[in-house]
Amino acid sequence: MKQRRCINIGLMGLGVVGGGVARILPQKASSMASQIGFPLVIKRVLVRDLKKPRAVSVPSDLLTTDAKDILDDPDIDVVIEVIGGESPAHDYILAALNKGKHVVTANKEVMAKHGPELLAVAKEKGVDVLYEASVGGGIPIIAPFKHDLTANKITAIHAIINGTTNYILTKMAKENLDFGAALEEAKALGYAEADPTNDIEGYDAAYKLAILATLAFGQTVRPADIHCEGITRLAARDFRYARELGYTIKLVAIAKEVEGTIEARVHPAFLPEGLLLAKVDGVFNAIYVEGDLVGKVLFYGQGAGALPTSSAIVADVIEVASDITAGVGNRWRSKQSAGMPIRPMSSVETRYYLRMIVDDRAGVLAQIASSLGRNSISIASCIQKEANASAKTAEIVIMTHLAREAGMQKALGELRELSTVKEIGNFVRVEGMG
Ligand SMILES: NC(=O)c1ccc[n+]([C@@H]2O[C@H](COP(=O)([O-])OP(=O)(O)OC[C@H]3O[C@@H](n4cnc5c(N)ncnc54)[C@H](OP(=O)(O)O)[C@@H]3O)[C@@H](O)[C@H]2O)c1
Repeated sequence: MKQRRCINIGLMGLGVVGGGVARILPQKASSMASQIGFPLVIKRVLVRDLKKPRAVSVPSDLLTTDAKDILDDPDIDVVIEVIGGESPAHDYILAALNKGKHVVTANKEVMAKHGPELLAVAKEKGVDVLYEASVGGGIPIIAPFKHDLTANKITAIHAIINGTTNYILTKMAKENLDFGAALEEAKALGYAEADPTNDIEGYDAAYKLAILATLAFGQTVRPADIHCEGITRLAARDFRYARELGYTIKLVAIAKEVEGTIEARVHPAFLPEGLLLAKVDGVFNAIYVEGDLVGKVLFYGQGAGALPTSSAIVADVIEVASDITAGVGNRWRSKQSAGMPIRPMSSVETRYYLRMIVDDRAGVLAQIASSLGRNSISIASCIQKEANASAKTAEIVIMTHLAREAGMQKALGELRELSTVKEIGNFVRVEGMG
């Protein structure tokens, strides 16, 4: 048998995160070698464009555009996948596992859509897939679910796990910007991509929530199981009214056990200003976890960026490399629950904020109250915000008590039909995190 001298890495991707990893591994080479027992060596680096200027210097003979140079190299022990997107990343991860290579990935989309199948292949092949960087960037959250929280029955997760939207919402709240202006600012600062759809429509947060819920509840929760709404409907005036009412607006990712079902949803929500999650601003992320033994714990930190994300990736690499040194194969035993059904969104209960423009005359409020009442929604408060004398309309804001989503959707349909309701400006769910 060949004597091992080092642990060889195939790095797939040399962008923001891959560049960070390629910078850190040599910088920390000696401390990691003493920790692991062998030096870590980047043997090949997969990119799309060999000629592209790079922020990090990598010997040009390491670069390749052919994934087979990594996948078919028997000397490569660990593949770090930081290409992103579903395809071809999923194929590469699967191929690497089938060749008996450990995989470390930051890919939320692949892990949300294919994680359980990839983990099963890894187990069969006696290797690991580690994915700490896929949720919350540098925030340790996957490992705590696998290790430190594993004695708990997890009852709820409330999270802010998309830095781009949190930056935009913070700008809208603090500087009275409209959505479009805040998005442009996020783009200019590099916090939003040229095509921001995945972030602003909530898909990125839904991928991350699927990963967390699967770990927390011990059963597969797919992105398709998660009700997902983005932040594009929010207007500057929603933030103004939220503030006046003592709330702030965040894109929340919620997964909780309710009456033997799993409720999983991503959408903007009013959060009372006093809540810790309401104070998470800018590109920061926070994940609030509730367990039957530990109570409530909060994980907070930088959810993206080259160095925070590399921190999570390199930690995963050290873990698999240490296992290779110790001759240990796949160690991951997932929690297995009995399998709870996914709660349909129509059964979810929350409170609601409702903003609309109505005719400014007697009897209109009674009509609205009656429509809400028919759908079992009771009004907690109703405030007239602005009147338009020439149009003879007024803007009103209604806060409801706890109501069922099905009733709210039906009421919204009825309200849209009323000739006295000129416009439903917005409706936003209100979360107390109780
Ligand atoms: N950016 C963050 O802060 C962050 C945080 C947490 C997780 N992540 C995750 O980390 C992953 C990477 O993100 P990133 O921001 O580093 O992306 P990025 O800057 O766009 O880099 C992607 C890299 O992959 C290479 N690549 C893409 N498609 C390829 C293909 N088909 N074949 C070969 N190479 C290909 C690109 O090559 P070229 O350079 O030649 O174009 C580039 O080097 C994603 O899964 C992302 O969700 C990112």
